[in-house]
Amino acid sequence: METIRSVKGTSDILPEESPKWRYIEAIINSLAEIYNYREIRTPVFEETAVFARGVGEYTDIVTKEMYTFQDQGGTSLTLTPELTASVVRSFIQHHFDQTYPLNKLYYITPLFRQERPQAGRQRQFHQYGIELIGSEHPEADVESIAFALHIYHRLGLGSGNGANQSHLTLRINSIGDSACRPPYLETLRNALQPHLEDLCKRCQDRFQHNTLRLFDCKNESCQQILSQYAPKITEHLCPACEQHFQSVLSQLEVLQIPYQVDATLVRGLDYYTRTTYEITSDLLGAQDALCGGGRYDLLVEHLGGSPTPAVGFAAGIERLIMALDALDLFPEFTDTLDLFIVVIGDDIRPHAYQMLQSLREKNIVCDMDLLRRSVKAQFREADRQNARYTIVLGENEIQAREATVKDMASGEETPVPFDQVENFILHGIRENQFQ
Ligand code: HAM
Repeated sequence: METIRSVKGTSDILPEESPKWRYIEAIINSLAEIYNYREIRTPVFEETAVFARGVGEYTDIVTKEMYTFQDQGGTSLTLTPELTASVVRSFIQHHFDQTYPLNKLYYITPLFRQERPQAGRQRQFHQYGIELIGSEHPEADVESIAFALHIYHRLGLGSGNGANQSHLTLRINSIGDSACRPPYLETLRNALQPHLEDLCKRCQDRFQHNTLRLFDCKNESCQQILSQYAPKITEHLCPACEQHFQSVLSQLEVLQIPYQVDATLVRGLDYYTRTTYEITSDLLGAQDALCGGGRYDLLVEHLGGSPTPAVGFAAGIERLIMALDALDLFPEFTDTLDLFIVVIGDDIRPHAYQMLQSLREKNIVCDMDLLRRSVKAQFREADRQNARYTIVLGENEIQAREATVKDMASGEETPVPFDQVENFILHGIRENQFQ
């Protein structure tokens, strides 16, 4: 029979890899607490309308990347391709704004996009992110950026110490709002109309309905036309957007956060207004965006809520792991046991298991052999698992109610009455911690 394999573009997080995930997740959780964000978990599928309306019907995500299916009742459902629209759906449904005017939310979640798999691009991938819903002010944009960078710094990435800093680049732009973007798009189309024939097929398709995304085209000749003829959005912002943008930039300067203004940074989701940003890294290949975000002041209203400004970012965990691996920034994760119980004779096993369980009740990390292997093989296993102590339990020890505890590093053996084993081990572990 042919072996069944994981679906293309998905991967197992194997036991050797999962300590990295837990390490990253612990840092995200702890910083989220420090920044006063509360966790939100939304379902992995939603009604398709959440994304069709939320992300935008002409976006790549909605036109070609969603995993969409019908349930038995005929409702169209979609596996979440991104979480901002889901969080906003939840925000509206649960009337978050009636409890508090500002909601600071974060998440760590799997997502699904039917993209062409390559390094740093999967069909199931994971993001952590924040959504700061309720503030229109530039300091909210700045907080989202500062938070995103803080996580990298905590992980040792781009923490401002010389060469390492250069591995992260913050690119930032403002794409205006409903006052200044429509006239800008008109100006952009007018400027490009005479060159429409020279643009690639994809750009010609985007010209009418997704004009801003022309800037995302990787085709060299399109890029040349754009750089020669396209007016810059940053030069067409209305006074309110311009003021907002300048305030974001100056607050970044106060925080000594380096940035590059990039007037072509338009992002692939339709909900953005004003600030857009990305943090890229030269440690990654073609898919170099570690994190993307921005302001979306119209999305809550667009999905049926009352007008509420918001800003947020999301960051890929697989790409983050690639970057941390490239610089060898993970601590060493070694599996260790406090204790391994070696058993002589099958009759002894129930007693040994009883001891094991009572030690586990005391939070001692311990195990015994469940394969009924020889004493020699059990010691080998204790070694393999880096056990700090072993106890040999046989008929004699059970009779005497005394165990011989062996310190595996020094080889020293100590006879310890059963009722003192727990204290002996706990004492040893604590001493070890302070060495
Ligand atoms: P996004 O730019 O689509 O934004 O995704 C954010 C990050 O998720 C990317 O920078 C990348 O690190 C990671 N990512 C995206 N697609 C893949 C993939 N196929 N494989 C691996 N990693 C991937 C959003 O999702 C917005 N919801 C961000 C946001 C939150 N804006 C405001 N709030």
